[in-house]
Amino acid sequence: MASASLLKTSPVLDKSEWVKGKAVREPFASTVRIHPVAPSGLAVRASSYADELVKTAKTIASPGRGILAMDESNATCGKRLASIGLENTEANRQAYRTLLVTVPGLGQYVSGAILFEETLYQSTVDGKKMVDVLVEQNIVPGIKVDKGLVPLAGSNDESWCQGLDGLASRSAAYYQQGARFAKWRTVVSIPNGPSALAVKEAAWGLARYAAISQDNGLVPIVEPEILLDGEHGIDRTFEVAQKVWAEVFYYLAVNNVMFEGILLKPSMVTPGAECKDRATPQQVADYTLKLLHRRIPPSVPGIMFLSGGQSEVEATLNLNAMNQAPNPWHVSFSYARALQNTCLKTWGGTPENVKAAQEALLIRAKANSLAQLGKYTGEGESEEAKKGMFVKGYVY
Ligand code: 13P
Repeated sequence: MASASLLKTSPVLDKSEWVKGKAVREPFASTVRIHPVAPSGLAVRASSYADELVKTAKTIASPGRGILAMDESNATCGKRLASIGLENTEANRQAYRTLLVTVPGLGQYVSGAILFEETLYQSTVDGKKMVDVLVEQNIVPGIKVDKGLVPLAGSNDESWCQGLDGLASRSAAYYQQGARFAKWRTVVSIPNGPSALAVKEAAWGLARYAAISQDNGLVPIVEPEILLDGEHGIDRTFEVAQKVWAEVFYYLAVNNVMFEGILLKPSMVTPGAECKDRATPQQVADYTLKLLHRRIPPSVPGIMFLSGGQSEVEATLNLNAMNQAPNPWHVSFSYARALQNTCLKTWGGTPENVKAAQEALLIRAKANSLAQLGKYTGEGESEEAKKGMFVKGYVY
């Protein structure tokens, strides 16, 4: 619940409040307030960062803005670079990420950027800290904290997400380095079940991660990606999504996660990628909003969708359709592929193309900003932007 003190202070983060080097709070044990004598016998706890978490989440969920996901692991970034004929070296990753964070005016449309650990500690090719460049652009730096997917023993060939060991100390260090929010992506596969075990494991892992993030001043982005893989229709996706989000919110509550200080990163409710019946943006919006209304409390400030292999234009049209009427939450984007695709291809690893590539990213960011406001028309889009990017068994 928002504390009374919040009402007296600015509801969003002042830039000076999230600059790198801000004093780090005391460790967990001395800052978490435990009230052991509640009459019911229940202990009530709250992170000392509560007010700041609410402000960070509201800043990211601000009108007309969304998140640039640029947190591809080195392996995934290597695949992107290979698609334009570049080697997967640190220098090439740095050059590409420099191009992204230095797009002039990006902060008008982008409120947060999710970084991979290498980028959080990296400088641009001109020697400025990537984090400092983002802050100057009025963009909150975030960090991918999960350690990736591995096979889930005892399941139907499903996966679970690693990364809880040592997460508290890593999160404290990330905060000190300037990160103010975190991302943990786990996946649920419809063709492989999903088994009750896989759904429970995904939900529990997300909830533990969210609690640990909040204790360390990072707003957790909760991302149970329901993969597009499969021939199933949209009704089956809806059914699975209802089950997944029910479990996620159950375990978030069990772990005393403060809902006002989280952000969600769901998949849109669509048919499976190999389903013959395709859905219109209106159908995707209707199903997805119905899911959100049934499962997501209005105290959650922002729903930042992933693009999941949709084309750039499709992802923007679907977001626009969801914003045709007011929603209880800020409904926006946290796209990687659907923001970066044309930009990457335009760059092609050639210094002379940097400006054109930056313009391509700004076009997508602006289109999605308009979609967040429900004002995107879809006019004048390139053929490249209409190409789907679905890859079976996609890892991040
Ligand atoms: P896509 O938008 O490419 O699906 O990426 C989503 C994601 O999880 C990145 O954080």
